[in-house]
Amino acid sequence: MHHLSLFTLAASCLSVLAAAVPVMPGEPIPSEPAAPKVCRNPPKRLEWRQMSKSQQMSYIDAVMCLTMTESKSGIARAINRFDDHQAVHSVQTPNIHWVGHFMLWHRYLVATYEKALREECGYEGGQPYWDWSLDARPHDPDSLAAFPEAIFGPGAYSFGGNGDLVTPTPEQNPLNLTGGTGGGCVRDGAFTPDRFRRDFVPWILNSFADPARVEEVLEQPDYASFARSVEKVPTFDQPNIHGSGHFGVGGVLGTIGNAENSPGGRPLFYLHHGNLDRVLWMWQQKDPETRLNQVGGPVVPFDYGGQNVTLDFTVNLGALAGDATLKQLLDTQSGVLCYTY
Ligand SMILES: *[C@@H]1O[C@H](CO)[C@@H](O)[C@H](O)[C@H]1NC(C)=O
Ligand SMILES: *[C@@H]1O[C@H](CO)[C@@H](O)[C@H](O)[C@H]1NC(C)=O
Repeated sequence: MHHLSLFTLAASCLSVLAAAVPVMPGEPIPSEPAAPKVCRNPPKRLEWRQMSKSQQMSYIDAVMCLTMTESKSGIARAINRFDDHQAVHSVQTPNIHWVGHFMLWHRYLVATYEKALREECGYEGGQPYWDWSLDARPHDPDSLAAFPEAIFGPGAYSFGGNGDLVTPTPEQNPLNLTGGTGGGCVRDGAFTPDRFRRDFVPWILNSFADPARVEEVLEQPDYASFARSVEKVPTFDQPNIHGSGHFGVGGVLGTIGNAENSPGGRPLFYLHHGNLDRVLWMWQQKDPETRLNQVGGPVVPFDYGGQNVTLDFTVNLGALAGDATLKQLLDTQSGVLCYTY
């Protein structure tokens, strides 16, 4: 159906490992020791452009280091620790979008990736985020200002630019997304030129990352409506902030690759989801007493009206971290998590 076909597209753009990385049936997944329950000196997450050049370089170096550290996810074809996080996302993709735990599952993934950068690769800062609402020009859909040099520049302190223009086949573009300006391999920036793709779609980023869309999300009265407002429906006719980074940057052909060839390909995923997480954090700060204790939204994707998640609902990241309840993930300084904005 319509939802399903769109979901398939989303899955293929968000998680390139899905097809390439089946879980090995019957392979035992070792679990981590329980996370410490205290949070001391939480790292403060900064917008990429708030970071000094040396902070930016230490982040990029740490991501490079993750790509050179051996995988421990137990997921076939995830070769290094960078792959591990993407692979866990890929495996769980059908169960972690358009559900009540969408935002908190991704919060846990980004925090676990951040922890790996810090504990395994000597990074001392917080996971950076990209606040795309600073760049969107909602009244100028073709503006390329939405792709700032500091993020998408060619140099060693940024993430590289668009791919060359490639016209997708109708089979590659079942949802008829228009306005793609790239599609080929990224050739510059700090990460592995020629091994991953981008397909900037300016009108998507300019409308989906509109500050008014962020305001709309921040005005939601409860967790379930907040979470639903971030994702909305999987079509391109209802601008939603989750789609901004994914489809504005990735378009139809972007972020294609596989575990072997694109180990350092897409750290931008974490800057995008870092910003979504910051929006959740800002929403929670408006009424912490209530909002550090409230969840909602469907257990099964799109099943609005069906069974909802509760504070005790448990999510997992496979072998990458211990299981966590949504209650533990509501507070970014619960001890299971430890960071701030
Ligand atoms: C995309 O366009 C094709 C050909 O015009 C059409 O058959 C198909 O239904 C369209 N898909 C969507 C999701 O609009
Ligand atoms: C789940 O929550 C929604 C509101 O977000 C509500 O309409 C629905 O009835 C709830 N489902 C159940 C089974 O209580």
